[in-house]
Amino acid sequence: MKAEQLFDVRGHGVLVTGAASGIGLAMAEVMAANGARVTLLDVDQGKLTKEISRLKAEGANVREALVDVTDSAALRAAIDAAAAEYGRLEAVFANAGISSGPGFTVPAGELGAVAPENWERVLRTNLGAVFVTLQAAAAHMKPRRSGRIIVTASIAGLRSEPLVGYPYAVAKAGVANLVRHAAVELAPFGVMVNAIAPGCFYTGIGGGRLERDPAAARAFAEMSPMNRIARTDEIKGLALLLASPAASFITGTVIPIDGGATAW
Ligand code: NAI
Repeated sequence: MKAEQLFDVRGHGVLVTGAASGIGLAMAEVMAANGARVTLLDVDQGKLTKEISRLKAEGANVREALVDVTDSAALRAAIDAAAAEYGRLEAVFANAGISSGPGFTVPAGELGAVAPENWERVLRTNLGAVFVTLQAAAAHMKPRRSGRIIVTASIAGLRSEPLVGYPYAVAKAGVANLVRHAAVELAPFGVMVNAIAPGCFYTGIGGGRLERDPAAARAFAEMSPMNRIARTDEIKGLALLLASPAASFITGTVIPIDGGATAW
């Protein structure tokens, strides 16, 4: 089989949450660049408008959905609208997420300093909204007996990572088991559910702190034996693989893409 058949996503209906920046934007870009029809869902109108017009100018088949993923009704409606627009949804990337601030390497991130509002906001965004995305996507895919749901987890949800905050670490652990649980239920219906667990990537998360703070960037780079932070283009191969025919027997996995950090 040729690579172009294995990775053929031409005409596929795809939705990506948190698609106006960073890892989600790279996911949307690789799907669109390979001929998929892609809805970029995000809460940031400015970035969404800028990226949609750039992608359209490059010839991509993209549309926008301005939605806050913590508004469950609006999120469900946007997923339904994308399915209606495309006639079906082949792949949904549940990617939107936020930082919860520093981990316990500094006093502000210690157990006793975690504010209830921060806990609730991060759990609602990074876990609750992923659950709703999965529910709404599966509702379209299960009757068609086909579909791909790809969640952005984190290596911070697979083990203790002292550099990230408690709410973030717990939400990411939650999505990893959500993926396994849903994958088992949905496997008989041909709906495959997987997670990508990134190590450290340069993105807009935490206000793009790593680009501005060399000490923080060094600490995150040292998490990996490759001793560097990844660029978002480096997520594209795995994202395309999991959405493509090449992944026809892959479900229930949480795949690190971390320069060897979890092997250490
Ligand atoms: P980013 O900040 O560059 O992109 C996140 C996008 O999600 C932004 O466009 C933002 O507007 C959007 N978003 C945030 N809250 C939203 C909401 N309530 N509703 C709709 N959209 C919302 O950050 P990044 O790093 O690309 O994050 C994407 C995912 O990758 C997140 O789930 C994050 O936890 C995960 N991740 C990132 C890592 C990194 O090193 N950058 C490492 C491991 C996981």
